[in-house]
Amino acid sequence: MTGVDITEEFCEVATMLSKLTRLEHVTEFRHGDATAMPLEDDQFDLVMTMQIQMSIENKRRFYDEIFRVLKPEGWFAFQDIMGGPGGEVHLPVPWATRREESFLIAIEALRETLKAVGFQIETLEDFSEEALAWRKNQPAAAGLTLPTLGMHVVMGKQYVLMQSNQVRNLEQRRVAFVRGTATKPRITRHAA
Ligand SMILES: C[S@@+](CC[C@H](N)C(=O)[O-])C[C@H]1O[C@@H](n2cnc3c(N)ncnc32)[C@H](O)[C@@H]1O
Repeated sequence: MTGVDITEEFCEVATMLSKLTRLEHVTEFRHGDATAMPLEDDQFDLVMTMQIQMSIENKRRFYDEIFRVLKPEGWFAFQDIMGGPGGEVHLPVPWATRREESFLIAIEALRETLKAVGFQIETLEDFSEEALAWRKNQPAAAGLTLPTLGMHVVMGKQYVLMQSNQVRNLEQRRVAFVRGTATKPRITRHAA
């Protein structure tokens, strides 16, 4: 399993956690940009991304890179936050404190980009209702005491506001949560 993150410290922490859980022999974390990954072509059976696309402006390069590193017939699985019809997001959110840090696109634009890159979309599901129900009951949005350990340790003082903004953004359809899968078609060689 190879992980890529643009934040060097997160790669160091991931390496440390792998050692603590005795998984270092099957994991490797590379500091790098997902739009120019330090990885060879056609080498992975599966690429998975979780809530990263909304931080990346150049969507085409991001998905081109995922396509490039996948083996033919490889799978891409993702969970991401998209823009909704309700208008601009309430800030701060976990991925942005300023408007210029957030690059939300609509689900249809995601579908078109994946197809343009060459992916075959297998599933694409909007699960915003489920995400809203879950978030509303989390301690940060429900106004409960936070546990000792949790995301607030990483996210800092604005964590509670970020989480309550996420609830508002979902309720007002300013964001949509999606998950999906896509495959890289087998490359067929044509006789000369
Ligand atoms: C919202 S976090 C999600 C982290 C993790 N996938 C999860 O679900 O817990 C977004 C992550 O994307 C990383 N990131 C943002 N832009 C990136 C880029 N261009 N290339 C690689 N990683 C990036 C950030 O450093 C951060 O770790």
